[in-house]
Amino acid sequence: MTKTGQNMILGTGHTVPDKILTNADLEKIVDTSDQWIVERSGIRLRHIAEKGAALSELATEAARRAIDDAGLKVEDIDLIVLATVTGDMKFPATACFVQENLGARNAAAFDISAACSGFIYALQIADGLLRSQPYRHALVIGGEILTSMVDWQDRNTCVLFGDGAGAVVLGPARDGRGILSTHIGSDGAYSHLLYNAGCGCINMPTVENVQEKIHTLRMEGKEVFRHAVVAMSRAMKKALKEADVSSEDLDLVISHQANLRIIEALAKRLKVTEKQTYVNVDRFGNTSAASIPIALDEARKNGIIKEGSLVGLVAFGAGFTWAASILRL
Ligand code: ACO
Repeated sequence: MTKTGQNMILGTGHTVPDKILTNADLEKIVDTSDQWIVERSGIRLRHIAEKGAALSELATEAARRAIDDAGLKVEDIDLIVLATVTGDMKFPATACFVQENLGARNAAAFDISAACSGFIYALQIADGLLRSQPYRHALVIGGEILTSMVDWQDRNTCVLFGDGAGAVVLGPARDGRGILSTHIGSDGAYSHLLYNAGCGCINMPTVENVQEKIHTLRMEGKEVFRHAVVAMSRAMKKALKEADVSSEDLDLVISHQANLRIIEALAKRLKVTEKQTYVNVDRFGNTSAASIPIALDEARKNGIIKEGSLVGLVAFGAGFTWAASILRL
């Protein structure tokens, strides 16, 4: 007997900016090649927002689509939890702009920060609040305009990222469906391997700091890669055990879409087949907190997963943070 959830996904939605940046475009910006990017990351293109675009616009559109898909009205939404590290402003929370755009007057809205693991963290928080508070429906959004903090002269990082937003509506579970388990974890000892030091209180936006590009993303890619595979595999095994299912039972594994080689190494460790593994990193690049809800929505809309499917979500990101969840759709 597997566990049953208290809350399930009622609807999903996603959106990405129209503008596409191909590997051939990047060849004109930095010393790179389509061959290197495809071989090392699996990425072929990514969607990028215009300079100065608001994340709240992408998040609002993804949210609207998820609410429509759930067959609900905006007034039905009691809670908006938005995972991002690239919100519109330092404050107020981007979730509040989304609330205003939607006209979701009955919702409490706030952001959370757990980098690429953010969406699953947000799912866990929303599930917990739905269980403990008199709320019925939560909008859980993962969205990023990560290209706003990319150093376009650093070929080590600028080829990897894309922009977008994905959303789900959570509500009361029925028929043995729902979130069966979630495991989240972090280890701050590795914060120096992936960070942006320029958007906090330590490094003010002085002329010197801007010149030193202190406000751009920095990453030790090789180290992140190594930790990502180990931590995601461990997190997924914990979530599987908690849900009382095995990796063989999963219809689909949606892992954070950062790099095709990470996705394949993880699949090998978890002993899941190619058919059980969702890949869209080739078309979107690494969209951080948006990657899992974008993939989840695509997989549902493409009919790869449907009502009753058993799905594993797993992510890893700056912090380091990691998270995994098992859902019966
Ligand atoms: N084009 C051409 N050559 C490049 C490029 C590029 N775009 N980028 C790096 N290189 C070069 C390097 O300079 C290096 O050259 P050298 O040997 O002469 O010094 C060589 O290619 C190899 O570089 P590595 O960094 O060793 O390449 P690696 O195989 O590790 O791949 C990559 C790099 C793709 C970044 C990989 O390490 C990776 O994907 N890491 C994980 C990233 C990730 O998962 N992030 C998730 C979290 S993101 C978040 O939380 C916001």
